[in-house]
Amino acid sequence: MTTTSAVPSAVPAGQAPAEAIALPSATAYAEAVGQAVRAAAAYYDNGSSALDDDAYDRLVRAIAAYEAAHPGENLPDSPSGKVAGGAVEGDVPHTVPMLSLDNAFSDEEFTAWAASLERRIARPVASWNVQPKLDGLAIAARYRQGRLTQLVTRGDGTAGEDVSHAIGTIEGLPAELTEPATVEVRGEVLMTTAQFEYANEVRTQHGGDPFANPRNAAAGTLRAKDRAYTVPMTFFGYGLLPLPGTGDGLAAELADSAHGALMDRAVRYGVNTPASTQVPGTVVSTVDEVLARVREIGALRAQLPFGIDGIVIKADLAADQQAAGEGSRAPRWALAFKLPAVEKITKLIDVEWNVGRTGIIAPRAVLEPVDIDGSTVTYATLHNPADITRRGLRLGDHVMVYKAGDIIPRVEAPVAHLRTGEEREIAFPAACPQCGSGIDTGEQRWRCERGRNCHLVASVAYAAGRDQLDIEGLGHSRVVQLVEAGLVSALPDLFDRLTRDDLLGLERMGETSTDNLLAALDAAKRQPLSRVLCALGIRGTGRSMSRRIARHFATMELIRAADAEAMQQVEGIGGEKAPVIVAELAELGDQIDRLAAAGLSMTEPGATPPAPATEPDATDASEKSQPSAASGPLAGMKVVVTGAMTGPLEKLSRNEMNELVERAGGKASGSVSKNTSLVVAGEGAGSKRTKAETLGIRLVAPDEFAALVGEFIR
Ligand code: IVH
Repeated sequence: MTTTSAVPSAVPAGQAPAEAIALPSATAYAEAVGQAVRAAAAYYDNGSSALDDDAYDRLVRAIAAYEAAHPGENLPDSPSGKVAGGAVEGDVPHTVPMLSLDNAFSDEEFTAWAASLERRIARPVASWNVQPKLDGLAIAARYRQGRLTQLVTRGDGTAGEDVSHAIGTIEGLPAELTEPATVEVRGEVLMTTAQFEYANEVRTQHGGDPFANPRNAAAGTLRAKDRAYTVPMTFFGYGLLPLPGTGDGLAAELADSAHGALMDRAVRYGVNTPASTQVPGTVVSTVDEVLARVREIGALRAQLPFGIDGIVIKADLAADQQAAGEGSRAPRWALAFKLPAVEKITKLIDVEWNVGRTGIIAPRAVLEPVDIDGSTVTYATLHNPADITRRGLRLGDHVMVYKAGDIIPRVEAPVAHLRTGEEREIAFPAACPQCGSGIDTGEQRWRCERGRNCHLVASVAYAAGRDQLDIEGLGHSRVVQLVEAGLVSALPDLFDRLTRDDLLGLERMGETSTDNLLAALDAAKRQPLSRVLCALGIRGTGRSMSRRIARHFATMELIRAADAEAMQQVEGIGGEKAPVIVAELAELGDQIDRLAAAGLSMTEPGATPPAPATEPDATDASEKSQPSAASGPLAGMKVVVTGAMTGPLEKLSRNEMNELVERAGGKASGSVSKNTSLVVAGEGAGSKRTKAETLGIRLVAPDEFAALVGEFIR
């Protein structure tokens, strides 16, 4: 349930955003208006509404539906038709009203709105400007002769509050423009995910309650004066207009400029806009193109380092905007296409402590199930004990949970003002929850003192997995059997201790399955070093890091000889990770010796060892290794594989595809960025393909890729 027992609720649980709630009576209508007024007041005052955005939107729509069905019964407090739900005012008048936006929740609603706009102006809209709807607070920044002199909040749209004290704390809003212009820049102030984490850390260190989410944090921070600490925020411009004193020439130019041209000018002035992000504003000409761009931005949402709650679509040309005009609450030439809510409030019921295969003890939040963006969320990641302390979480807290796309849900923060006093401290384990041994709390991530021996089943099953030694017939339940029978107490036992008779003595193991498993164990000896390394489950390394290490050093001997400095020559290994890897390798020394003696491969085919460092500056970060197969058809290329593979590549797992990329001289990567050279997109490729298209990165189908790297396919 998203609304909470602390709130008298007119909003039923679990409603899809587009579903209106029907208010059955005048009493229910009055209660809903009261609830909306309280929520809006708290939201705009200090960002502490008890309703999440989705619940508030549904409430406001129910109120509007009731009013449409009962003309003449409107209560004066009703949020309908008011900027900020009528919740706020201020004492600095805006030269031009700062309006809100009408919303659409579906393609149909947008299409109908576009058609009505075109009827109103009696011609097709010449072009549309499509940009992200940033989830922060509207602000007007007044520049006089190029100097930032005043910051004003939106307030009730007619007048806002002076928050000039925040000048200097907002990135993207320079103290001085590149030109001595007198203009007002309008836009959104928000906190990026990183700024939010930092803000809550600093705030709780100073004894304050954490903010529930980045938007609340920005709202609270913007209005706070005289704090002992400052926390940065970020500005994104979406409007540029004249002020008294602008000068006729520039004023006329601004008034006649298309929205896209205004945004370009803002960038020239040195102001941050969405142009600096993965989701820049774009200009398109048809409604279908608008909807395609809406989908593209929606697909990128989960990866953005800041929150967006929709997409804003504007008629781009000044002439079209002027012909459409403005209502009292919103312009008629712009609309917000709302995206589904990705943040909900729910309750933290428990914290579980799970021990992973390397002995890491990881906390996980158990939540009252909540529907977010089309799926039910019951668990969320909490990273490590320090993370719990930093967020100031308590059991029984209402928490803001974030989930978008296929990312793992995370708890953002407690909703501190909903605390009842019944919340309890979260108990950290005193002993390993898996085996009862002591816990090494020396690092941020706690670890069982027995390390990978603690959870032997998990570490052996991992080593046998498809992307490691790929031992067919050695699934989880078979590993449990072997460990429980005392036949395996470390990975090498599989190769140098386990006998045919041992296996035949197990339940459900006939001659055939025994011989098959022995053959699979034998085949595992031919796996390349990268996979042996991965099978060892070294902390801080996974499949791709193991490949990079193996390709860099070429032999296990050289890997083991490397000190932390040499380890840092491998791309992606920094000063923190290198000593952990070196220590892990030392800890695993006996096991590695046994695996080598049992005949497992300790070399990486195709890799050449690094030349010994002779120059004193050979440790320069710019000298970090590239895979040594720098020849090959993909030499120097960064390649991302996405979607289902077909043709000759059909049987390859994602890991095997990445191995193939690297054998052919390329570098495999999991995410598309402007540095990506090539994206192999199979059927069902989603947001990565979209992003590649947006960034203009070369896309190839699986068959085309297979032809390119043919000789490297095994
Ligand atoms: S244009 C007259 N563009 O959304 C047009 N607004 O729900 C006014 N917002 O009040 C706004 N991103 O605070 C515009 N790219 C964007 C926006 C944006 C976020 C906010 C803005 C506005 C609110 C309406």
